[in-house]
Amino acid sequence: MLFKPEQRFISERCTGCGICSEVCPEDAVKTTDSGHVVSFASICIGCAHCGCYCPSNCFDLPKEQDDKFSQEDQIQSLFEYRRSIRKFSDKLVDEAVVNSLLEPVGFAPTGQNAQGISVDVILGRERIHRLILNPLVKLTRFLDCFRLLSFVAGPARGIVRKIREGEDIITWKAPCVLLFRAPMMNVTGKTDAVIAATMVSIKAEAMGLGSFWNGVVQMVSPILRVKKCHAVLCVGYPSLKKYQHVPAREWTRRDIG
Ligand SMILES: Cc1cc2nc3c(=O)[nH]c(=O)nc-3n(C[C@H](O)[C@H](O)[C@H](O)COP(=O)(O)O)c2cc1C
Ligand code: SF4
Ligand code: SF4
Repeated sequence: MLFKPEQRFISERCTGCGICSEVCPEDAVKTTDSGHVVSFASICIGCAHCGCYCPSNCFDLPKEQDDKFSQEDQIQSLFEYRRSIRKFSDKLVDEAVVNSLLEPVGFAPTGQNAQGISVDVILGRERIHRLILNPLVKLTRFLDCFRLLSFVAGPARGIVRKIREGEDIITWKAPCVLLFRAPMMNVTGKTDAVIAATMVSIKAEAMGLGSFWNGVVQMVSPILRVKKCHAVLCVGYPSLKKYQHVPAREWTRRDIG
């Protein structure tokens, strides 16, 4: 069932702390001047981040357990605990951590065991700006010169405006970007790269790191110096504590045959 914040919100519990607006990737939480939540915009994607970071459990979600990774085999807990992280602390991700984080790639399945996955590591904000953000800002400003951005409609217009003004709604100030790529000749290349990235994203959670998938950077990668890739993860240490679980997402099992 898609999470609908307006249906679950218990306004009496709201203290006006503002965390839900901070974590909302869509700017969909509307508040009063005192920070109290009043409504949710229709651009809400139902990710439930407002709910799982709310210290007052205003969205009535199941509680997180703080000590849930005491045993390595608690993999379902790990899957349930994983969230896209877009609020990173200033703590840097060092070389040793990156090496450990990428170890699952060496154990990832590939079609016909073709192997050959490569991961480009962009470590540090200066490199991320130089290779990803600056070229995108330049591109939007260039298109703006020719009034080409006026054709962009709806919520995308606000996104493009923020990029043009240099706001980082692309990598969300992550300290590390990983670009996964499989050789062109691999029959299942894209799938192979996505599987490897998935394994890395889960290991990130187990290591106390956080990540989010970056479809935007992956989409524009062919026009950047980083070159075309099949999956992109932004990684860093989370700056916020999660208090609640999101409810299970909609999916279907069909018994066939
Ligand atoms: C293929 C893919 C591309 C995504 N691209 C972006 C992106 O460009 N920017 C972003 O902030 N989040 C991106 N996300 C994260 C989704 O918004 C997020 O997974 C979804 O809202 C559910 O939240 P959760 O990851 O915490 O479960 C992407 C996720 C996937 C699977
Ligand atoms: S995080 Fe919770 S308590 Fe804080 S403003 Fe949002 S709904 Fe209110
Ligand atoms: S469900 Fe996600 S998109 Fe919707 S208001 Fe909450 S944080 Fe924002």
